[in-house]
Amino acid sequence: MLEIKENFTLKKYNTLGIDVKTRYFAEYSSVTELIDFFNLYPKQDLPLIILGGGSNVLFTKDFEGYVLHPDIKGIEIIDDSDDFVKIRVGAGEDWDELVDYCVDRNWGGIENLSLIPGNVGTCPIQNIGAYGVEVKDVITEVETLEVDSLKVFSFKNEECQFAYRDSIFKHKLKGKHIINYVTLQLNKQPVFKLDYGNLNEELGKYNEINIKNIRQAVINIRESKLPKPEDIGNAGSFFKNPVVQNYKADELKKSYPEMPIYIQGNELIKIPAGWLIEKAGWKGKSIGRAGVHNKQALVIVNHGGATGQEILYLAQEIQKSVKEKFGIELEMEVNVV
Ligand code: FAD
Ligand code: EPU
Repeated sequence: MLEIKENFTLKKYNTLGIDVKTRYFAEYSSVTELIDFFNLYPKQDLPLIILGGGSNVLFTKDFEGYVLHPDIKGIEIIDDSDDFVKIRVGAGEDWDELVDYCVDRNWGGIENLSLIPGNVGTCPIQNIGAYGVEVKDVITEVETLEVDSLKVFSFKNEECQFAYRDSIFKHKLKGKHIINYVTLQLNKQPVFKLDYGNLNEELGKYNEINIKNIRQAVINIRESKLPKPEDIGNAGSFFKNPVVQNYKADELKKSYPEMPIYIQGNELIKIPAGWLIEKAGWKGKSIGRAGVHNKQALVIVNHGGATGQEILYLAQEIQKSVKEKFGIELEMEVNVV
């Protein structure tokens, strides 16, 4: 039976460390418990959100509704051959613990996604990505509960509409489906992806390239520039990297030949938002208790006691100034509640 807590503080449940309360809070450890919840508390006209690790949300005020926290656990091998292994993982498992578990068994495919905070159940929502790999490369299936019908659904990879920091769960199905299990196919003959940034260079410090060392190299690079939420509140990249038409990037390159770009094909170019924000003069700057990280300008930090409104104000000021200087709209990656 689910325990519903009232006036529950979410400070420890969001990595920005925003001190807000939710009217109701409950943790569920199975799909049955989740269905029981909806049967016991049907359509109360109160909003409801699922909160995983809270590493991609910004609460701007107290939440007048239900916050449900998934605690569905388990890693089940559902297919195993000489080349591949398929695992079905509960939404409440910790993402980085799963990466560690797979790396330990020499199952390849997610080692580049080391040290990303959050839950397994959330990884498909924005199709988490880092160091040249996106989780869509290994997801075969996503199992959900549809809130209205309380029916269980299963989405194949191609039905999830995965794209850069995007999926069907962020748009059409947002708030309508709760993710309970994710199935991943991992490679027993790992193929390494080492082209991103200075990953290859970092690996030069090791005498062998294997998936354990790749995981460690990714961790080293990340720790050198991304602040640990335990030390300083943050939600990783606050904005997505903007994707612009070729002509727009060419125009900017005339004034800023040093601007890094990533060619996407189809006449599209991705520009690192961190570079734009730094060039706009924000790196290391603060407004009140909200600040821009001094080693990674794409990360907004809570210097201690910042409210969600203060963080949002800073984010909007950054958007305005990047728009003025470069004519580019930055879209927030973080989910504002
Ligand atoms: P939450 O913040 O709890 O939730 C995010 C959104 O998903 C919310 O809208 C929530 O309502 C919804 N949601 C959560 N669980 C469910 C569910 N089971 N069903 C339906 N909806 C749900 N991301 C990257 O892609 N790459 C990175 O390299 C990266 N690095 C990061 C580094 C740091 C230091 C931090 C703090 C964040 C980083 N992130 C990165 C962002 C974040 O870790 C990911 O987006 C992660 O997947 C969020 O998981 P979570 O469980 O914390 O999500
Ligand atoms: N840059 C600057 N100044 C900065 C930050 C970055 O000039 O302050 C430049 C770097 O020099 C580099 C480029 O921007 O040339 C890219 O920087 P980095 O490799 O640090 O990656 P990013 O584009 O800032 C993205 C993801 C991260 C992911 C890393 C590694 C997005 C929005 N962010 O960051 O994901 O870990 O690449 O793959 O795509 C997240 O989503 O929360 C996240 C942390």
